[in-house]
Amino acid sequence: MTKKIAVLPGDGIGPEIVAEAVKVLECLRADGLDIEMNEAPVGGAGYEASGKPLPDDTLALAKESDAILLGAVGGYQWESLDISVRPEKGLLGLRAELELFSNLRPAILYKQLADASTLKPEVVSGLDIMIVRELTGGIYFGQPRGVRTLDNGERQGFNTLVYSESEIDRIGRSAFDIAMKRGKKVCSVDKANVLECTELWREVMEHVAKDYPEVELSHMYVDNAAMQLVRAPKQFDVMVTTNMFGDILSDCAAMLTGSIGMLPSASLDANGKGMYEPIHGSAPDIAGQNVANPLATILSVAMMLRYSLNQVVMAERIEQAVEKVLDQGLRTADIYSDGMQKVGGSEMGDAVVAAL
Ligand code: IPM
Ligand code: MG
Repeated sequence: MTKKIAVLPGDGIGPEIVAEAVKVLECLRADGLDIEMNEAPVGGAGYEASGKPLPDDTLALAKESDAILLGAVGGYQWESLDISVRPEKGLLGLRAELELFSNLRPAILYKQLADASTLKPEVVSGLDIMIVRELTGGIYFGQPRGVRTLDNGERQGFNTLVYSESEIDRIGRSAFDIAMKRGKKVCSVDKANVLECTELWREVMEHVAKDYPEVELSHMYVDNAAMQLVRAPKQFDVMVTTNMFGDILSDCAAMLTGSIGMLPSASLDANGKGMYEPIHGSAPDIAGQNVANPLATILSVAMMLRYSLNQVVMAERIEQAVEKVLDQGLRTADIYSDGMQKVGGSEMGDAVVAAL
């Protein structure tokens, strides 16, 4: 049966990197992949089209699709809008409406890019971490939230960190399931020494672990985890953590690999439906100049094939094609080093298609 893919380019460099990923999908379609692609605006583009960062038609398309390919959202021109209609709300709305609670953010160091990391090669070579971030709960969505005026006239901002047992349980199971296919180690990151909510998090993780006797569970406070990520990142296999801690730690882990321009992500619901996007943002400063690295988005397509479309062989072909263009010495500006061949984003996309 034809699989439906919603293509949501978004803002900034989103459209140009998504265009390269679509080239890859078109190439696979010519090779027998049975897909249909439909494009719709989201983020700032959604706001311009309909006054909402997540237009109704875009949400409807996302709901009826088997998978979603997203570029990035956000830009300077929308920063002064009310928070309720800012581009980021388009992304958060998709995550919430589609219940994409499990966010997989791999941090892999490609051997060809060992020099691109700011850390010493021996610290990062061979790095392969999977961060599993809870994506539809925690302080990002907790109620009550807002800014209120106190009796003395002073304003007070407030957000709520809240997790129910079932939310912790299901993200825990995601992490353990993935660990079973990898190094069989899960490190759960919390702040159980201060926050009751994450004390419960720790307790539920212990409970989930009982169903996975082969997996070794450890716990780490988030401040220490940030430190360990830059001190000795190879100690980690799978890390599982809350929405906000995962937001922060995944940027940190991304930079271990040299460029955030290389890292894909998957956001999955309970049935394997997913949204796939690079973990980097919309980079409005370099938009429209054909310098953005499309590899993170292309690698997101590989994750889509693996997790939502059940096409593991095609996923591996994409990953091998990316390795091949790196072996050929092609580099976008973000991963460029002396002696390599600097190329633009579209040339990089073409090279991946050629390698496929
Ligand atoms: C991410 C981003 C988003 C987040 C923003 C754009 C809302 O930083 O996907 O990590 O905070 O989740
Ligand atoms: Mg982030």
